[in-house]
Amino acid sequence: MPSVLLVGATGLLGPSISRHLKETHPDWPLTVYFRNPEADNYFNTVVKADKIVHGTFEDATKLGDLAAEHEVVINSGSSFDPNVSRAIIDGMKRRKGIEKGTLIHISGGGNFIDGRTDGKFNPTSKVWNDMNEDDIRQINPSMLNGGADRVILDAGNEGSIKTYIVCEALTYGSAPSPFSSLGIGYKLLTGNAISLGYTPYVGDGSAVLSTIHVNDALTFIYKIIDLAVAQKEVTGSAESRWYNIYGERVSWKDLATVLAKTLHSKGVLPDAEPRSVPLEQAGEGEIPKLIAANMLMKGDRAEKLGFKARERSILEHIPEDLASYQF
Ligand SMILES: NC(=O)c1ccc[n+]([C@@H]2O[C@H](COP(=O)([O-])OP(=O)(O)OC[C@H]3O[C@@H](n4cnc5c(N)ncnc54)[C@H](OP(=O)(O)O)[C@@H]3O)[C@@H](O)[C@H]2O)c1
Repeated sequence: MPSVLLVGATGLLGPSISRHLKETHPDWPLTVYFRNPEADNYFNTVVKADKIVHGTFEDATKLGDLAAEHEVVINSGSSFDPNVSRAIIDGMKRRKGIEKGTLIHISGGGNFIDGRTDGKFNPTSKVWNDMNEDDIRQINPSMLNGGADRVILDAGNEGSIKTYIVCEALTYGSAPSPFSSLGIGYKLLTGNAISLGYTPYVGDGSAVLSTIHVNDALTFIYKIIDLAVAQKEVTGSAESRWYNIYGERVSWKDLATVLAKTLHSKGVLPDAEPRSVPLEQAGEGEIPKLIAANMLMKGDRAEKLGFKARERSILEHIPEDLASYQF
């Protein structure tokens, strides 16, 4: 029975993954790693995790030592920081046992933005397809999640551990959990609008964003966990175990229109309409680059494994997803 370590247990995905694991594989010893001690009760009484360890992503030694004790590590918490992935992999390589350790990592479609800065749809932009290993080989540290992805792909190709990467589009919807995490996608978009005082889109806002509902993402992640545990040995490159999942592409203007209306109706923003702005007025850090660009991903490999998006559009979901959230 594989022992499993879940990193990022209190986020949008983590509570569902942990519950699912204990419901479907009660005999797999599950360790959950998180920093909020108030979450203990939930993981003890609802999830019935076998072990709770408190720690942060910055605590590389603790994370590495823990990874060394488990056969499977699922990282559903940190896709941006390569140091977290390095710590996990260093630990996994130290693991004693006959079988190779298995790392299942959740990455993000932010890697695949096309670099446009004018907010326009570009029909000739590259579409990044998981079935094309050459596309995945191009993933590099200049991409939003590329630093961590590169470390993992290299470790998978080196062959000392088995790696599986599920790369999800911007994720919406809510998953049952007492921690009310909106997920990093919504956190970035709503936080940006609130700090600007308006909901921006760039130029005509025709550039498109790939999105996925959390239920669709979770269904596929569960499939990958089972597949990864069943595959005692892997053949082929680490790139061949990369899966893109998305449900729908929406224009940034349409997204901003619903978001502005929703945030206004909650009394968070003065205007119910979004604002067309140049790149420089679309926010701080990496966010304007995302809003001004097209994110075109395709998941032929994931579809071949049965991935199918079933949930309604993010444009219908935003009001209900944000309804009970206190900003
Ligand atoms: N949501 C999306 O749109 C989306 C799209 C593509 C990829 N992803 C990636 O998928 C993964 C899961 O996303 P998510 O939306 O579920 O994330 P999330 O809701 O923001 O959850 C992040 C998790 O990581 C924990 N965490 C954050 N910083 C930490 C630190 N310094 N030390 C210890 N724990 C820390 C959080 O703990 P606390 O509860 O204590 O804050 C939480 O458990 C992430 O890697 C994300 O980048 C997300």
